[in-house]
Order: sequence, then C-alpha cells, then structure tokens
Amino acid sequence: MSNPIMRTEDLCAYFDDHQVLKGVNLSIEEKKVTAIMGPSGCGKTTLIRCLNRMHELTPGARMMGKIWLRDQDLLSMNPMVVRRRVGMVFQKPNPFPTMSIYNNVLAGYRLNGIRLKRDEADRIVEGALRSAALWDEVKDALHKRGTFLSGGQQQRLCIARALAVQPEVLLMDEPTSALDPKATDHIERLIVELKEQVTIVIVTHNIAQAGRISDYTAFMYLGELIEYGPTEALFTAPRDSRTEEYLTGKFG
Ligand SMILES: Nc1ncnc2c1ncn2[C@@H]1O[C@H](COP(=O)(O)OP(=O)(O)OP(=O)(O)O)[C@@H](O)[C@H]1O
Ligand SMILES: [Mg+2]
Repeated sequence: MSNPIMRTEDLCAYFDDHQVLKGVNLSIEEKKVTAIMGPSGCGKTTLIRCLNRMHELTPGARMMGKIWLRDQDLLSMNPMVVRRRVGMVFQKPNPFPTMSIYNNVLAGYRLNGIRLKRDEADRIVEGALRSAALWDEVKDALHKRGTFLSGGQQQRLCIARALAVQPEVLLMDEPTSALDPKATDHIERLIVELKEQVTIVIVTHNIAQAGRISDYTAFMYLGELIEYGPTEALFTAPRDSRTEEYLTGKFG
C-alpha cells in the first residue's frame, strides 16, 4: 500500500472506562473502497466515527492515538473542517424531513453558514444528485420533500448531501442494511462509480457485498484490527483463523 489518504496510529477509543478500540493501525488508500467487517459490537461504527471526529460528540467518549488526514494531524484540526472533508452516510436514510430535496442537498453549506448564489447552488445540487445517480428521478420534484422518496432514493439523497460539500473521504455505516435487494444493488454500483472522485470506507455486515465492491478489507474483532489487506487476498487466503471463521460464517 502506497499512498494512504488517512491513517490511524495506535488508535484507542473509549466510552467512559470501556475500551472499544484497542490500538488500531489502519491505512486508507486514496480513491479506493475499503470495507470494514466484523461481528456486532467489535467497534466498526466507533472506528469510522473517530475518523470524522463524531466519536467525541458522545458524552463520556474519548480517543487516544493519532489519526492522519494526508499529512495533517486530524485530532488537532477544527472538527467542522474535518467533517466537511470526511463525510458520513448512516445506516438509516436520514434526510431532513421538513426540507425539500433541493435544500437537503445544500444542507452542509447551510449548516456551515455558507451562502451561495442561486446559479451556483443550482449547479451544486445538480452535480451532487447526478453523482448520487438520483438526478433523473428527482429533477422535476426538487422542491418537494425528500421524505416522499423511496428508502433507496432517500439513501441516495443522503449520499448527494454528503457529496455536495466535496469531501475527500466518504464514510458509510452499513448504508444498504435498511434497503431491499434492488436498492442495495443500485447503491453498490454507485459506490464503485464514486471511487473515481472520492475515497470510500464502508462498514458492512454483508460479506458478499464487501467482496463485490471493495478493494481492501479490514476484519475487526473485539476492538482489534485482526487482518487487513487487498480484498481478494483476504477472502481467498486469510492469514488469521478468526478471519477465516468469520468469512465462512462460523460466527458474527
Ligand atoms: N454510545 C455508547 N455508549 C456506550 N457504549 C457504546 C456506545 N456506542 C457503542 N458502545 C459500545 O462500544 C462497542 C463497539 O460498538 P460499535 O457500535 O462501534 O460496534 P459495531 O461493530 O459497529 O457493531 P454493529 O455491527 O452492531 O453495528 C460495543 O461494546 C458497544 O456496546
Ligand atoms: Mg455499527
């Protein structure tokens, strides 16, 4: 692995006295899809919430170690800047219910107090919706509420909202687990297209999904990063017996 866009160094995370990440060293390659897998409770969500400084928003939560975003120390940066450069899409589609589709896409700008000229705003909305493969379906309904959309469309709207501020990294926490197979397939294809413009880190419980869309896979167990490498190598010849047991469905 050559040129990581993000790197954690001995990352430890805690909820009060409970340590949930135990010295994680992970390098995220630029413009690739990295999948994070592991049984429930092993710390996947906590790890990606550290990567965009959301972990610290939970009372009693803290972290130790280092995170690098290119050559910058992410833990000493302004958290708002980090969250703009490292975006997040959640498990359940969560468009702002009272906002139009148009305003949902622009929400990141509004929340940051950035005012846009009308034509610039139009351009950003169209670009982000096209990137999220949603434009054709909503271009005549931009001023309707996002909550009228199907679950899969709502998730693509959330992806458009995340992309609108042009993040360098997009974190996705089980983004298809609330969707039906057709909507899941649509989002998987979208993720593969998106890696041309943004680095993607996706948490997934779905081993087959990780195999289909990721370039690299990390396997976590009880707060530790057990194994990490190119997806094909990890799937065909896991080095650790726990990785193999997980991949063959023996636990998790
Ligand atoms: N807000 C919180 N307060 C206290 N403990 C928490 C909190 N969130 C998570 N934990 C604990 O941290 C550990 C890791 O949780 P995390 O949500 O990161 O796991 P996960 O791998 O994402 O699991 P899942 O696959 O079920 O989503 C678990 O033991 C969990 O109980
Ligand atoms: Mg989780």
